[in-house]
Amino acid sequence: MKVNELKITYIEKSHQELSDVEQRLLKEATQAAQKAYAPYSHFRVGAAVKLANGEILSGSNQENAAYPSGLCAERVAVYYANARYPQSSIETLLITVLDENDDYRCEPVPPCGACRQVLTETESRQKCPMRVLLVGKDEVLEFGSASDLLPFIFTSNELKK
Ligand code: THU
Repeated sequence: MKVNELKITYIEKSHQELSDVEQRLLKEATQAAQKAYAPYSHFRVGAAVKLANGEILSGSNQENAAYPSGLCAERVAVYYANARYPQSSIETLLITVLDENDDYRCEPVPPCGACRQVLTETESRQKCPMRVLLVGKDEVLEFGSASDLLPFIFTSNELKK
């Protein structure tokens, strides 16, 4: 028997420490969250991506009366970017959540497992790391790569074995 250990490194920072591009992403993600269609959960998520070609795109969660038909903000933004610019990699993804007063939720909200699966596959497709920033009211968490959020990912390699 052997006990293994996994270690990930991530940065904790304040809103003041966001770069100009990150501030722009936060603005776009916030505006997206304000447009979320979340009449069932009232949980409004905004995601914004910065592409290697300079474009910034955003998305919000889209719910449906048939609950599983809805889609998370992260996947709306990432699929939108992949659909519009399939050749351009996503350098940074920023995610935030607004409360009922349009204020940021105190704690950064991590993406769900299904979104992590999509983020990591997008990252491996584009062959360069996707930085992920989770923005709460009091703190920002920054991960250098989407794969940091999902160790032991299921990949297309598994299908070949
Ligand atoms: N949601 C997201 O948009 N992103 C996540 O990573 C977690 C959950 C949405 C889905 C649903 O519309 C609502 O938040 C409550 O789960």
